[in-house]
Amino acid sequence: AFNWTKLLQRRQPNLALLGFQNSVRNYKVTVVGASGGIGQPLSLLIKQNPLVRELALHDLANVAGVGADLSHVSTKATVESYAGDTELMDALRNAEVVVVSAGLPRKPGMTRDQLLGANGSIAIKVATAVSAACPDALLAFITNPLNSIVPIASEVLKAKKAFDPNRLFGITTLDLVRAKTFIADFMNINPQDVNIPVIGGHAGTTILPIFSQCKPDFQGRDEDVKSLTHRIQEAGTEVVKAKAGKGSATLSMAFSAAYFVNSLLRGLNGDENIIEYAYVASNVTDVPFFSTALLLGPSGITKNLGLPCLREDEEEALEKMKPVLMQSIEAGIDFATSIL
Ligand code: LMR
Repeated sequence: AFNWTKLLQRRQPNLALLGFQNSVRNYKVTVVGASGGIGQPLSLLIKQNPLVRELALHDLANVAGVGADLSHVSTKATVESYAGDTELMDALRNAEVVVVSAGLPRKPGMTRDQLLGANGSIAIKVATAVSAACPDALLAFITNPLNSIVPIASEVLKAKKAFDPNRLFGITTLDLVRAKTFIADFMNINPQDVNIPVIGGHAGTTILPIFSQCKPDFQGRDEDVKSLTHRIQEAGTEVVKAKAGKGSATLSMAFSAAYFVNSLLRGLNGDENIIEYAYVASNVTDVPFFSTALLLGPSGITKNLGLPCLREDEEEALEKMKPVLMQSIEAGIDFATSIL
């Protein structure tokens, strides 16, 4: 017999079963911070995603022009622009995926943690609006300090009784993208052929590439593992320095976030074996937020795939970074509770 219950449990009707030609469902994605350095290229990439029906652009200023420009791109997603705090709720309404790139970037010499004062309130504002406008949406942050921003958002969502740990993400894809690129460069192979777990958080030593699990096997000396690990951990700073006061990574971050958003959408769409790393509420270690591999599905995280096998030196690096990560998590929670 046909399993109607299963069909009705899905959040949207399966158009293929109803006889429509198009077998993929289509989603509304909202980009908060859409006219910024990351937001613009990210929106351009999302506009090209065939799973997107509607792309809502939100920013405090200069968003109408970005929206008009993007709306001329000949892909099916429609584009709507929303400006200012008063239009945030409208931008979010009915969104299935919300991606947040809003916030100030670092200047040379700054750590990500030093952005907490400037950017923490963005997480509060957006999570509050999401809890009211689209509490079922998958909410993914790019905004730094990411290690604190995700805990802040979780505090807000808990206070609003809208917290689902399977729907809140900090995007760490750029750390994996960088690891692939630098390792491929070193081994003289195609970055697309490199797979390596990068676990933990998104700042300095909390970014932990697991070379023992690199595929293909990493061919290099211990010194090479050390120097590549350091480069992956400090790659954001490399870009901040090179931009010399004009911000941080925008293009590689947009590439990474668009890739991650595509995986979220494919998960919603019921595609199988969609696995991404992201910084999420976690009980894989004793640190309450942690990035590991996640199986994605129709309601966000289907399963946290946990820690990869670790070599002794990786185990040590993990133990060493946990208190560092914990400090940023506590700073985020303190920030949230001081405002809520
Ligand atoms: C990055 O990794 O490039 C971003 O987190 C931005 C930054 O400040 O480094």
